[in-house]
Amino acid sequence: MTRPFPRGAVIDNGRLTGIGGVDVRSLASEFGTPLYVVDEAELVGRMREYRGAFGEGATVAYASKALCVTGVLQLAAAEGLSVDVASRGELYTAQRASFPMERVIFHGNNKAPAELRDAVDLGVGRVVVDSLTELERLTSLARDAGREVDVLVRITPGVNADTHTHIATGHDEAKFGLSLAAGLAHTAIDQVLKTDGLRLAGLHSHVGSQLLTSAAFEAVVRTLIVLLGDIHRRHGVWLEELNVGGGLAIAYTPYDPEPSITQYAAALLDSVDQEAKANGVPAPRITVEPGRSIAGPAGITLYTVGTVKDVPGVVSFAAVDGGMSDNVRPSLYGARYEVVPAGAPSPPRDARPFDVVGKHCESGDVIAAGVWLPADLREGDLLAVAATGAYGYSMASNYNRLARPAMVLVGDGHARLLVTRETTEDLVAHDVVL
Ligand code: LLP
Repeated sequence: MTRPFPRGAVIDNGRLTGIGGVDVRSLASEFGTPLYVVDEAELVGRMREYRGAFGEGATVAYASKALCVTGVLQLAAAEGLSVDVASRGELYTAQRASFPMERVIFHGNNKAPAELRDAVDLGVGRVVVDSLTELERLTSLARDAGREVDVLVRITPGVNADTHTHIATGHDEAKFGLSLAAGLAHTAIDQVLKTDGLRLAGLHSHVGSQLLTSAAFEAVVRTLIVLLGDIHRRHGVWLEELNVGGGLAIAYTPYDPEPSITQYAAALLDSVDQEAKANGVPAPRITVEPGRSIAGPAGITLYTVGTVKDVPGVVSFAAVDGGMSDNVRPSLYGARYEVVPAGAPSPPRDARPFDVVGKHCESGDVIAAGVWLPADLREGDLLAVAATGAYGYSMASNYNRLARPAMVLVGDGHARLLVTRETTEDLVAHDVVL
């Protein structure tokens, strides 16, 4: 059984005792809980594995929505990755991390005019066009700025990815992109190709997230390569780039398969080569946009148990000091997580099942149900949840006016703050007292 904890985690008799060379008790006492802890070796190791597996002939863009904080984007920039941003806030974070603007890809199904203007003025590397309205706006912005803007057209390929419906994005009914079946994709492509000031660098598609098999990736590659051939027949141009989005799944529990980045890259590049040959299309440059599979496995969350409640013959609850405000995925998607006790090493102990719940005013505020924890679990004990690096902090809220946790980066025996803990003052900072 492989537990989905980062490579720098020390698990001893089923307990997390340290991470990145730092004792978990000192992390909890120095920074408080709940605490997001990011293992630098795992995070950077995954960035390097992506770059190595795809090679210099492809672009790896970190999808910042997974975990968008300045320090993480600084690491991505230093590792030579590009970055996918989908809002002014993510773009600003990339600026703050000194990300070279030509390595920024600007996404979004409803970019505000001001966001598009920023993208043009800052000279981002690619703007991904998602609608005909946006195309009009971008055309006039490029004209006003007197600049040529490199664009990708986001294609809705009609691919049904096998994942939770909330995170499937390639089917014809999806709100994202320009439908191939309905003819919108061709309209947009024709339009870009005849617009001075816009340069059609290629096509983009992202069909879903947490994808466990390669079927959807292969279907997208096939559809987009056939489309490259069509565009060549209609317009006499070969587009140079295919951006196939992110989506590689990660293991959240010991029972989940653990897809390999290296195998995924090999399979993807192979299917591009094969489809290009089969369709007589010059092989395009590939861009991938992994988010979850870079940040997810690198992060854990440390909590303190505040209340143990035994309902005799029914259930035992271990309530922790956070919950759905720092990790909404269990209540939003029914996501499952691995929870282990954390703290000092200890000999094996008797265990019994607990529902690990948060402190919010919702019965759905459950982090994981039926977790086997030490039978004598008590108030003040630490628990660690694995694989919370992606879409935890980035989807966090202040529900019940809980302050969002701090985040630390650990490695080589040191912990550095990535995000400070919000204070109660922060929570009311924008309230106006009548
Ligand atoms: N590129 C585009 C255009 C995307 O929309 C996304 C994710 C990615 C790349 C990165 O996908 P990843 O490699 O992380 O699967 N909140 C959900 C996930 C939503 C993903 C949205 N788009 C969750 O917690 O599962």
